[in-house]
Amino acid sequence: MKRLTTSSIRQMKGNEKISVLTAYDYSTAKIIDEAGIDIILVGDSLGMVILGYDSTVPVTVTDMIHHGKAVVRGTNRAHVVVDMPFMSYHINKAETLKNAAKIIQETGAASLKLEGGTEIVESVTALTAAGIPVMGHLGLLPQSVNQIGGYKVQGATIDSANKLLEDAISLQNAGVYAIVLECVPHQLAKHITENIQVPTIGIGAGPACDGQVLVSNDMLGIYNNFTPKFVKQYEKLYNQMQSSVIKYIEEVKNGNFPTLEHSFEMSEDIYMKLYGGK
Ligand code: KIV
Repeated sequence: MKRLTTSSIRQMKGNEKISVLTAYDYSTAKIIDEAGIDIILVGDSLGMVILGYDSTVPVTVTDMIHHGKAVVRGTNRAHVVVDMPFMSYHINKAETLKNAAKIIQETGAASLKLEGGTEIVESVTALTAAGIPVMGHLGLLPQSVNQIGGYKVQGATIDSANKLLEDAISLQNAGVYAIVLECVPHQLAKHITENIQVPTIGIGAGPACDGQVLVSNDMLGIYNNFTPKFVKQYEKLYNQMQSSVIKYIEEVKNGNFPTLEHSFEMSEDIYMKLYGGK
């Protein structure tokens, strides 16, 4: 099966909404891919939902490669995009290209996502010139949480809304194939969506974006430390998984598991020779 390319994703704007979920491991990626998702993001949100950090800041290039490889192995159809982690594209152009090449070559992913606006245009230009497709990310930038002082809605003032539109246009001109808009008022997301040519992928950005992304652990209800307002939980797997584990513990303790149904058999003949039927 052919994977979705960045040009097929661009062509979906105005024709078909783009579905995006995160995944960080082989089994989950396989479930999501076989369900027919368009894009799988190996997000640096793995710092929180997989590695148990309290932000994305400690995530490294090595972490992204480790999880990116597993996700690519679990998928056939989805376009796989991997986050460049904190400070892996800020030092200089050579370092940015080196990190990007390492992630793309070692994971087999098709593109990279970078957070930021005009300040990262140089990096985006360098990557797209080197043949690496880039997805942008504007609004709430989790890698800058220490600078912005928390996870809050962005672009709610006249200046910040104007800056976000400028950033979106700059990223588009630098060659991104899509832009994530995180935690911005829905009216601003609609205005940006209508005024750029590349698709917008919303998360906490209302219904007018060209696509939607959620962290799969949030929408499946596996990660329950905190559930943002913009998350719709389709399942409560934390509770379901925990009930199954409680049942398993009980059955192991009371001897109801394993039974012979889950055991292997030796032939009667060998059993008699060995132990005389005792
Ligand atoms: O890391 C991530 O999962 C993301 C999404 C929230 C868009 O960047």
